[in-house]
Amino acid sequence: MMFLEASDRAEFPIAVFDSGVGGLTVLKSLAEDFPKENFLYLGDSARLPYGTKSPLTIRHYVEQNIQFLLSCKVKAIVVACNSASSVLDLERKIAVPLYEVIGPGARTAYKISQTLSIGVIATRATVNRGAYVRALHELDPRTKVFQQACPLLVPLVEEGWVQDPLTNLVIHRYLSPIATQEIDTLILGCTHYPILKESIAKVMGGGVTLVDSGKAISAEIMSDMNEGKLKGNPAGSGEIEILNTDLDQHIQFTAERILHPFKAAKFTHVNLTASDISNLDQIRNF
Ligand code: DGL
Repeated sequence: MMFLEASDRAEFPIAVFDSGVGGLTVLKSLAEDFPKENFLYLGDSARLPYGTKSPLTIRHYVEQNIQFLLSCKVKAIVVACNSASSVLDLERKIAVPLYEVIGPGARTAYKISQTLSIGVIATRATVNRGAYVRALHELDPRTKVFQQACPLLVPLVEEGWVQDPLTNLVIHRYLSPIATQEIDTLILGCTHYPILKESIAKVMGGGVTLVDSGKAISAEIMSDMNEGKLKGNPAGSGEIEILNTDLDQHIQFTAERILHPFKAAKFTHVNLTASDISNLDQIRNF
């Protein structure tokens, strides 16, 4: 596919997608840092979780999401989902810049770490792919990486059990082994985990810095905008539109809570299993 001039797309929204509402933590960071940009968010709640599925299945979902978002006239696509980012073919070119979260998260953690002992908590898919381990070892082969899959945290966040004794217990159980390692930096390698930051920080203690992929990807996009690789929107109003493949009251409520104080202008249900995903009107179920 041909690359279009970035300037052709300056006023188009930046698309962000995730397997569910967790990626709104990434969108929130972007909205804070780019107040003039408009955003189009796609949450694939109908197929959540991605983190328990095989790379082949996740890759198929990612492909559908990318094709769909390209048909929505966006100027960049941010793959906020770590599980999806871990299976992405970064060599593949599409018509707009494609951002993922593993590289920026690893680079941020590497910059922060003094001891080169870094922890990663993520879904089973991301841990099994070893995506962060690879990215950190590419930066410096001496880096010691301690991974821990925390699959139960995603449904707890989706359930809205954030400040909850049961969630704290689960966090404690998952993090205890990693907390005994001499790490000074912990990558929150799943979009849902920044929502549990306070409880995670309590278990890890003050000597460990938590790295959030939302902030990391925001810095990367800022640098691309400064270098003219991605044009900023001179006339945008910071509008946020949310599309979801399984929109109901609970999902909308959870999304609003994560996004607060930002507000979505519109929520729309989309059906990505429609046979012709290149036709937007056919997909959006108004
Ligand atoms: N959004 C996913 C990630 O960041 C977590 C949820 C899932 O398993 O789909 O890896």
